[in-house]
Amino acid sequence: MFSRRRFLKFLAGFGAFGTSTAAYGFGEPVFQLDVTRYHLSPARWPADFPLKIAVVADVHACDPWMSLDHVDAIVKHTNALNADVIVMLGDYVAGCRHMIRRIPAEAWAGLLAQLKAPLGVHAILGNHDYWDDRVVQRNGHGITVARRALEAVGIPVYENDVVRLKHAGRPFWLAGLGDQLAYAPARRFRHVARIGLDDLGATLAKVTDDAPVILLAHEPDIAVRVPDRVALQLSGHTHGGQVRLLGWSPVVPSRYGNRLAYGHARFNCDVIVSGGLGCSIMPFRLGVPPELVLVTLGGSGPVVS
Ligand SMILES: [Fe+2]
Repeated sequence: MFSRRRFLKFLAGFGAFGTSTAAYGFGEPVFQLDVTRYHLSPARWPADFPLKIAVVADVHACDPWMSLDHVDAIVKHTNALNADVIVMLGDYVAGCRHMIRRIPAEAWAGLLAQLKAPLGVHAILGNHDYWDDRVVQRNGHGITVARRALEAVGIPVYENDVVRLKHAGRPFWLAGLGDQLAYAPARRFRHVARIGLDDLGATLAKVTDDAPVILLAHEPDIAVRVPDRVALQLSGHTHGGQVRLLGWSPVVPSRYGNRLAYGHARFNCDVIVSGGLGCSIMPFRLGVPPELVLVTLGGSGPVVS
């Protein structure tokens, strides 16, 4: 079976022959930016409690595929959505070898600091924020450069932690899960006994009242274990497989394949998987353009994507 790396390399090789399809695939990461909207009424979210959430996932800052100008445009676009709250779902760092240069964390964090929403901006980390961090990688533990950079500009980062927010006088919780693949692939981290830093039980134990819960989890796979106490899970990581044709992604970095590759799914709670903004492994996307996600909770209305 093809790994995503081999599959994307195959497509990249295809591009070397100058086909228009492959040329488009290399342009899609840079030139497109979509907004995908969902209107959901989860069972555990009060129907008369409207909340707009903007989701920024998988920035993967690097030149030329996600330049600072590009990040700046994403920030402006996100602010223009006038969401009540903005969440960032991890993978801020390059995660890709085929690039001109990595962008220093202080630079991309400085731009993300300009994201504005009435209930603030809240972040979790992704696997590449760990995998690309040489110090954490060498020691098998520690605070990532990405986390430090975000916190330095005033953006809180949740790793198995929660925050209780209030909107229109009503409370709700954001619960941010530690990364499920922080120390994978195992061969790179043989000295580390555990792959993931996620602790779903400990995270949800910090929820101390009946207010509805939104779970932020970089990788969507936790969905099979999330209890129905949670109203909504927001995830990224898959990039929709980076190649998606007719609603099907040939290679998906999820144990559950296309079930959690992209879009809306329902397990014990509703799950939204963002296609993300940047690229990992190869700077190539086809049929799954970079996207911001805007989720509106409460009220009635169909799922729109
Ligand atoms: Fe990613």
